[in-house]
Amino acid sequence: MIYVDLILNLTLLVSLSVVSGFIDNRWPRSSRVGVLLQGGLFGGAAVIGMLRPLTLAPGVIFDGRSVMVSLGALFFGPWAAAVACVMTGASRLWLGGAGALIGVLVIVPVAGIGLLARARLNPEAQPPSTPQLYVFGLAVHVVMLALLFTQPGGAGPSVVKQIGLPVMLLYPLATILAGKILSDQFHASLADKALRQFKTIFDTANFGAVITDVKGALTYVNGCFADAHGYQTAELIGQPLSVLHNEGQREHMERLLHQLTTEGRFGVQEVEHCRRDGTTFQMLMTGSVVRDASGAPQCFTATAIDMTRSKALESQLRQAQKMESVGRLAGGVAHDFNNMLAVILGHTELALESVDATHPIHGDLEEIRKAAERSTALTRQLLAFARKQPIAPKILNLNETVEGMLKMLRRLIGEDTALAWEPESCLWPVNVDPSQIDQILANLCVNARDAIAGVGKVTIETGMATLDEAYCASHAGAVPGDFVRLAVRDDGCGMDEATQGNLFEPFFTTKQTGKGTGLGLATVYGIVKQNNGFIDVHSEQGKGTTFTIYLPRHAGTTEPVRASAPAKPVRPGVETILLAEDEPTMLALTRTMLERQGYTVLAASTPGAAIRLALEHYGKIHLLMTDVVMPGMNGRDLARNLLSSFPDMKRLFMSGYTADVIAKQGVLDEGVHFIQKPFSAAALADKVRAVLEEGPS
Ligand SMILES: Nc1ncnc2c1ncn2[C@@H]1O[C@H](COP(=O)(O)OP(=O)(O)OP(=O)(O)O)[C@@H](O)[C@H]1O
Ligand SMILES: [Mg+2]
Repeated sequence: MIYVDLILNLTLLVSLSVVSGFIDNRWPRSSRVGVLLQGGLFGGAAVIGMLRPLTLAPGVIFDGRSVMVSLGALFFGPWAAAVACVMTGASRLWLGGAGALIGVLVIVPVAGIGLLARARLNPEAQPPSTPQLYVFGLAVHVVMLALLFTQPGGAGPSVVKQIGLPVMLLYPLATILAGKILSDQFHASLADKALRQFKTIFDTANFGAVITDVKGALTYVNGCFADAHGYQTAELIGQPLSVLHNEGQREHMERLLHQLTTEGRFGVQEVEHCRRDGTTFQMLMTGSVVRDASGAPQCFTATAIDMTRSKALESQLRQAQKMESVGRLAGGVAHDFNNMLAVILGHTELALESVDATHPIHGDLEEIRKAAERSTALTRQLLAFARKQPIAPKILNLNETVEGMLKMLRRLIGEDTALAWEPESCLWPVNVDPSQIDQILANLCVNARDAIAGVGKVTIETGMATLDEAYCASHAGAVPGDFVRLAVRDDGCGMDEATQGNLFEPFFTTKQTGKGTGLGLATVYGIVKQNNGFIDVHSEQGKGTTFTIYLPRHAGTTEPVRASAPAKPVRPGVETILLAEDEPTMLALTRTMLERQGYTVLAASTPGAAIRLALEHYGKIHLLMTDVVMPGMNGRDLARNLLSSFPDMKRLFMSGYTADVIAKQGVLDEGVHFIQKPFSAAALADKVRAVLEEGPS
C-alpha cells in the first residue's frame, strides 16, 4: 500500500508543476510577485500533501514535501524557497507528534540542496538533464533519510527500513518527472516569446518575407511583401506562388524551388514578380529550405527586397551622369567653336565695311555673317545646356517677368493657339536671371505650339510648392524645400515613353530636319539646373504635355527689376586700351575692331607681354581688355597685377564661357564686366563704351 500512497503523493506533484507553469506565464518568475506566488504554490501543495500523509508510527508521518520544497528552491530561488519552508514548517509544527521537530528540521537542508543545485545548474539558462535531476533527487532524499535516523525514541532505523527503498526508488524519479515538466514549460514559454518577437520583426520589416509549403503554396507573407505586390497579407495566404508570377517567369520560379529542394538554398537572385495590376517589377531574393527531423523538406522560406526604387535611382543616376558628360562635351566644343566663330563673324563684318553694298561679293559676305550668327545662337544654347552661360541673377516675382513676355509669346505661338495665363497671387520671389526665364518660356511655348496640330490651347501657370521627402522619393530629380512653380501646359499630341526618356538630351528631336535642332529642352534643362531647380514632365499621348519648372524660393523680398537704359549712340573712342588675348587671330581681329572705333590699342599675346607693354607705355591706359583663360596667368590675376600700377584702369573680361575665375558656377562676381565671345563689332563698341563711361570702379 505504501507504493500507492506514494504514487498519490506524486500525482499531487505533477498537477503542482502544471499550475506552476500557468502562474509563470502570467506572473513571470523574473518578478518578485511571481516568485512569491510560486513559493506559496509549492508550500501550499506540500501542506496539502501533509494532510494526507503516510503515517509510519504515531506522530511520524511521511509525505512529498521534500520533493516540493527542493524543486521550488531549484526552479524559483531563495524567496520561493523561504515561503515554501515557512508554510511547510508551520504546518508540520501544527500537526505535532514525535517527529514534528525533525519534520521541520528536514525542510531546511532540502531547500538548501535546491538552492545549491540552482546555483550550479542555472535552470533558466538551460533545462537540467535527466541524470542531473536524478542525482539531485537522490541527494535530497539521502539527506532526508539520514536525518530520519535522528528521530527521537530510536524509531529512525525502523522508519528508514520501512520507507527507505520505496522513497529512494520513487522520489528521484518523481523529481525527474516534475523537474522536466517545470523546465519544459518554462523553455516552451521562452520559445513562444522568442517566436512572437521574431514574428513581429518579420511582420513589420521593410523587406519581404515569405514561407511556402513544399508544393509552393504561400503559408506566410509579411506586410511588406504583400504591399509590394498590391495585396493584403490575408489575400495571399493559401494561394499558389504562381499568382505572383506571370507565364514567362514561372519557369525561373520552378527552377528556384527545385534548387531549394536539392541544394537547400539559393543565393541572391533577381527575380521578376508580377503585381496584382499585372505590372512587373524586380525583387532581390534569397531562399532556403526548412527540413524536419528526418531531413525531408518541410517548407521553403525566402526574403525579398523590392528593387523598384533602387532601379529608379540607378537609372536617374545614369541619366544624370550622361547629361553631365554630354554637358562637358558640349561646353568644350562650344568654347572652342566660339573662338572660331568670333573670327569668322568679325572678319566678315570688317570685310562688309570695306565692300560697297552694290559689289557682287557683298551678298555672299552677308550670307556668311547670317550663318555665323545662327551658329552663334546655337553655341549659346549649348553653353546654356552646359551651364556655362554667364548670368546676372535678380530677385524677381515670376508673375511680373512672365507678364512682360506674354505679348511676345502670343506672337510666337500664332493665332490658332490660345494662350491662357493663370498666375497665382502673392508668389514667393526667386533669384534668377530674367533673360533665362525668357529663354525657358520661349522654348516651352514653341514646343507646345509645335505639338498642337490645328487649334489648341497653351496655358502658362505659376504657383508655389513645399516639397517633402515623400514627394521627392517618388519624383526624379526633386529635392525637398520651398519652390516656385512655372508650368507650361498644352493639349497637343503628347509624347511616348521613348521620347520622354531622351527629352533633355542635346540634339534629340523628333522634328523634321531643318525644323528642330533638339536644343530647346537641353537649354531649359541647363538653365533650371544652373538655378538649382528641377523639371517635372507629365505627358500622355494624344492628351497633351505639362512641363513644370521648380525654382527654389528666394528667402527675402522682391526688388523691382530696373529697366535697362535706352541705347545711346556710341561715341567714337579716343582712349587707350590694353588688349591681352592668347589666340592670335582673335587678338588681331579685336584689335582691328577697336582701332576702327578710334581707340589706341596696345595688343599683347601673353599676360607677361601685357605687363611689359603697360609699364613701357607713356601715358594713361583707360581699359584693360583681357581673355579669362590664358596660359601662365589668368585674366583676373593679370588685372590684379596691373591694378597696383594703374589704379584707375577699367577692366573688361572676354571669354567663350564664364570660367570660375570670374564667376562661380556661371554667376558673375559683383562689379565684373564681361563680354561673351563671339561678339560683333557693334556689341564690342557698346560694351567698351559702357565700361569706360561707368563711374570709378
Ligand atoms: N510640348 C511637347 N509636346 C510633345 N512633344 C514635345 C513637347 N516638347 C518637346 N517635345 C518633344 O521633345 C523633342 C525635343 O524638344 P526640344 O525643344 O529639345 O527640341 P526641338 O523642339 O525638337 O528642337 P529645337 O527646340 O531645338 O528647335 C521634340 O522634338 C519633341 O519630340
Ligand atoms: Mg524645341
